[in-house]
Amino acid sequence: MPAVAVIGAQWGDEGKGKVVDILAEHADVVVRFQGGNNAGHTLVVGDETTIVHLIPSGVLQGKPCVIGNGVVVDPWVLIEERDALRARGFLADDDQLKISDRAHLILPYHRAIDVARETMRGGAAIGTTGRGIGPTYEDKMARDGIRFADLLDEQTFPDMLRDAVERKNRYLTELLGGTAIPFDNVLDDCLRVRDALAVHVIDSSVFLDKALASGRRVLFEGGQGTMLDVDHGTYPFVTSSNTVSGAISTGAGVAPDRIGTVVGMCKAYTTRVGAGPFPTELLDEDGARLQKDGSEFGATTGRPRRCGWFDAVVVRQAARLNGLHGLAVTKLDVLTGFEKIRVCTAYELDGKRIDSFPAGRAAVERVRPVYEELPGWSEQLDRARSLDDLPKNARRYVQALEDLTGVPSFLVSVGARRRETILLRNPFAS
Ligand code: GDP
Ligand code: IMO
Ligand code: MG
Repeated sequence: MPAVAVIGAQWGDEGKGKVVDILAEHADVVVRFQGGNNAGHTLVVGDETTIVHLIPSGVLQGKPCVIGNGVVVDPWVLIEERDALRARGFLADDDQLKISDRAHLILPYHRAIDVARETMRGGAAIGTTGRGIGPTYEDKMARDGIRFADLLDEQTFPDMLRDAVERKNRYLTELLGGTAIPFDNVLDDCLRVRDALAVHVIDSSVFLDKALASGRRVLFEGGQGTMLDVDHGTYPFVTSSNTVSGAISTGAGVAPDRIGTVVGMCKAYTTRVGAGPFPTELLDEDGARLQKDGSEFGATTGRPRRCGWFDAVVVRQAARLNGLHGLAVTKLDVLTGFEKIRVCTAYELDGKRIDSFPAGRAAVERVRPVYEELPGWSEQLDRARSLDDLPKNARRYVQALEDLTGVPSFLVSVGARRRETILLRNPFAS
């Protein structure tokens, strides 16, 4: 299949970066299509760890990287990330990084509004990453945003920015009690950004159309996860974009029939950062153990991740919404040493068994997981390179995840490093 997508099937941080890095070896182009630098994707090659927030995770494989129109781009973060990679010898050629001319800019007032609004929400805060993601998508939908194409227009950009800064400052100071952003500083900074990034700006839909038409293999990299999708996730404790595979079409400007194989990323257990419902969350020592053994700290904000058992209701929902062809199961190694491992097979809501996630906020709080218990194993897994190298109970556990979700495994990950991987099926070959 010329196009493959890697999509988070839980609440984010499933290991998308690691798997995209591995699959990028077989790809010709890697594309981000939604989200922004709320994402933190970790790539571990040998003993070197790289965290990317905006640049697609194919960068270490030397593949051309595209930031699609559906991404919201903090240009200062992008420049920092690009320059740090350049200093290590990556992205040596300007052509290797492409930014859609239709992608929206995250500007300083978006970050200020995000933070001020979270402060105002107090105990009801969403726990956003504070990167200005929500306010930028709001402006996009309100037809009030600024795109790369606008930034490049020397004639109209200063007035457009002045107008926006004035209006946002009113909102920030009068309604949110924040501090005004000085226009002159923002303009100067934006002009520097323009000089630094103009060379990368293209019509990425045209570029991808040509690439696909000529049989080049395109890898789409999701940000966040299905349960953080603004429509299908645990609203309002979600991010402000659609994270499901359908968003590839709008967020990269490619027709839906171009999307070939969809790989759903899930951890062998579940984590979530920030506030919001989490039915299988463990607030006991098992949760603390997953947190510690899995080094569960956010790659973007460093916040500890909440941990719980694998939730098949969630991953089944992801299979339905994304059209998952295969699973990439990560962090199986973290379950080593648990005598018994629980897996949530369904929920109970007000005495009734349900198989899908309810929409109502109060109902979601009332669901109780129905668990099945599986036997654990004590062996270290990081050296396993085939299913046969896994202890019997670990194989049985992977099989149980497949049976409960109805999706076969394409990949099982047994450590953070690139090589600590069991690749069962290459999605570019299926
Ligand atoms: P992403 O946002 O989906 O790309 O995931 P993150 O990078 O935020 O979080 C995943 C974390 O798990 C990173 O620290 C990875 O290095 C690490 N990781 C990925 N796969 C495995 C695995 O199989 N085992 C272990 N122990 N760590 C893993
Ligand atoms: P990756 O791509 C995990 C969460 C935040 C917060 C909510 C809204 O690394 O999987 P936002 O800043 O987007 O408005 O915050 O979404 N969140 C993530 N959680 N992984 C991510 O990305 C996330 N991106 C946003 O913690 O709960
Ligand atoms: Mg992450």
